[in-house]
Amino acid sequence: MSAGRAAVGAADGARTLGGVALDRALDALRALEPEARACWVYDLDQVAERARRFLRAFEPLRPLAAYALKANALPALLERVREAGLGAEAGSLGELTLAARAGFEPGRCVLNGNGRTREEAEWAARAGVHSVNADSIEELDLLERAAADPPRPRPLRVALRVNPGVETPVHAYVATGHEQAKFGVAPADALAAWEGRARWPHLRLDGVHLHVGSQLLDPEPRERALETALALVAESARRGAPLGLVNLGGGFGVDYAGGGREFPLEAHATRIAERGHALEVEWGFEPGRWLVAPAGVLVAEVLWVRRRGGRRFVVLAAGMNDLLRPALYGAVHRIVPVRPRPGPAEPATVAGPVCESADVFAEGIELPPLEPGDRVAILDAGAYGAAMSSNYNGRGRLAEVVVSGGRLRRARAGEGPEDLLRSARSDAL
Ligand code: LLP
Repeated sequence: MSAGRAAVGAADGARTLGGVALDRALDALRALEPEARACWVYDLDQVAERARRFLRAFEPLRPLAAYALKANALPALLERVREAGLGAEAGSLGELTLAARAGFEPGRCVLNGNGRTREEAEWAARAGVHSVNADSIEELDLLERAAADPPRPRPLRVALRVNPGVETPVHAYVATGHEQAKFGVAPADALAAWEGRARWPHLRLDGVHLHVGSQLLDPEPRERALETALALVAESARRGAPLGLVNLGGGFGVDYAGGGREFPLEAHATRIAERGHALEVEWGFEPGRWLVAPAGVLVAEVLWVRRRGGRRFVVLAAGMNDLLRPALYGAVHRIVPVRPRPGPAEPATVAGPVCESADVFAEGIELPPLEPGDRVAILDAGAYGAAMSSNYNGRGRLAEVVVSGGRLRRARAGEGPEDLLRSARSDAL
């Protein structure tokens, strides 16, 4: 697939994903779930292809590319990501567990998070993860205790997440003013910790981690982060504490607008490799969205079409509890009819069925005629879609369908009303 090929195609008048007409995916699901009016569909071949493309781009650095599970942790998808050669990035005990169950070797798992718990630290030390990105100096004591008791044959590898600040020049390690940031430690504090790392004898504290944001279409902030990392590697070595691991996090953006503005992955990777290959360090990346967003869609039935005050409202069977990004961030996802009807396009406000004014996917977008029962596809929904969905308004989470080699499988069942009661209890405490 070329970089520019549309993630979603069209055949016989229908939108397709992975060669399958999207209405067929929903119809096929209905054989198992007759009530289903919406579902997620992911093209696993495309996920695998993007994973391989990512690895190819960064090949010169031979990094650990650890897929950020928070983007989409569907087990069937995780397996394809693993088979393609990626590791896993987890932000919680739950994600560590999901990664392990999907067959990722602990030695290829990276643990993140700014709310480290003893349980996470113990899991990481016991299993022998690739590395933990510590978010504070205090956290190092917690990690040290976990790694020391009982002692492990290998020390627990730890990188410090450095917050370079927003407008930090290249020599960021002298900058201050990071106290306000939630994530990461100031470069000066990281340098002091590396220099004094004998304090944590069961840790291999030799890494720097920088994650400078998500949905970046401009590679510049990541390239600036690289410069910060290089400056820190040089300075730490000068102080007698050489570093061996540089993890540049995730943040690779995708073209939600469909305007052809892609993250320049290969060019960016080449620049990183040119600047970085001379260093004797191991490299890490944590891509999430870029790998999976374009490979997923949310297919939903049109429940109602209403005209009100001269406006056309299209009410879908999927809502903000399913795909929160538009309501939460004002994110724009393209919405297209699965089988466009003939007729002129007109403005439409596309809303969900949740009792909140914010439950609107798009306002005033041009859409051809739509009737109740038609299906629309909300594009680029493979990342931070199902992963952020909830049961709000008593709505079961939607089924997840995967396509591979032109075949459909249900990879997660949709929830019904009974599932809403699954964990309700009346336990005396
Ligand atoms: N590494 C760390 C430490 C992160 O915090 C994140 C994402 C990633 C890697 C993966 O970033 P990606 O490559 O996917 O940009 N819910 C938001 C995105 C939140 C991202 C949080 N951290 C959204 O829907 O846009």
